[in-house]
Amino acid sequence: MALVTSTEMFKKAYHGGYAVGAFNVNNMEIVQAITEACREENAPVILQVSKGARAYANHTYLVKLVEAAVIECPNIPIVLHLDHGDSFETCKSCIDGGFTSVMIDASSKPFAENIEITRKVVEYAHDHGVVVEAELGALAGVEDEVNVSADHAHYTRPEEVEEFVSKTGCDSLAIAIGTSHGAYKFKQGTKPQLRFDILEEVSKRLPEFPIVLHGSSSVPQEYVEMVNTYGGAMPGAIGVPEEQLRHAASLAVCKINIDSDLRLAMTGTIRKFFAEHPDKFDPREYLKPARANIKELVRHKLVNVLGCNGKA
Ligand code: G3H
Ligand code: 13P
Ligand code: ZN
Repeated sequence: MALVTSTEMFKKAYHGGYAVGAFNVNNMEIVQAITEACREENAPVILQVSKGARAYANHTYLVKLVEAAVIECPNIPIVLHLDHGDSFETCKSCIDGGFTSVMIDASSKPFAENIEITRKVVEYAHDHGVVVEAELGALAGVEDEVNVSADHAHYTRPEEVEEFVSKTGCDSLAIAIGTSHGAYKFKQGTKPQLRFDILEEVSKRLPEFPIVLHGSSSVPQEYVEMVNTYGGAMPGAIGVPEEQLRHAASLAVCKINIDSDLRLAMTGTIRKFFAEHPDKFDPREYLKPARANIKELVRHKLVNVLGCNGKA
């Protein structure tokens, strides 16, 4: 099947009590690892490309890698999505260049400006059969977590969501309920806790509307340990507890973004390989186990966190 939009995927996920995994791709091995796991588990998938990924690998290479995955995995629906589009121009370039979904992230702008830029992207995208994810609220960083009042200011305000969605016409909405990007999401010694009260209030106000969670890596401690054992230094790296993500997936959350976990698995595996084989220098020899470990990590997410295995 050709690349699809996320419309049907999200409808099924919403009513089925699961979420679709949105994994960031930057090179061939990562595309292969994700899509092989999804093919074997019969899971729908969103492959997403950031501005940084386009700068690193080049738009055309990434689109062609994803098109290769579509050919290799004909029985699962695959979405090609722009992650954190920062302007109308970036979104337009992806819409014109073969993506089936884009995110316009104007969440750092004032509310009215966020509406204005999001609406402009939606108009262009919908005219071209492409769907749009928008964001309201800013994801908390580690510093924000220790300051309760600043913390609160960063969460999505449920009272804004109806106006935002009706005025922009966006197809899904990323909200801030305590997740954050990167490998250091919560302060050590504190209890990670997502704000399910905000999620429930948002979904009450937006019935049947797909909600997105960014910053949802769980930062597997086995890979943090692997990195640290083999020459790395990532003390205190900690992620979102997987049972909380599973709970979110059973509610209105239809898309869960995971990137850092894949990076961690790749880096840990390659560090270990070099420590154990200091004489090796063929990239295929260290990329092969890295790809295999990413694949098994993605399989674990599909089955135990997202619940989307068997849903293609
Ligand atoms: O949320 C951002 C993603 O993890 C992509 O990160 O901008 O380093 O490619 P990146
Ligand atoms: P993580 O850093 O938690 O993997 O989040 C990725 C993400 O939200 C991409 O948009
Ligand atoms: Zn993100």
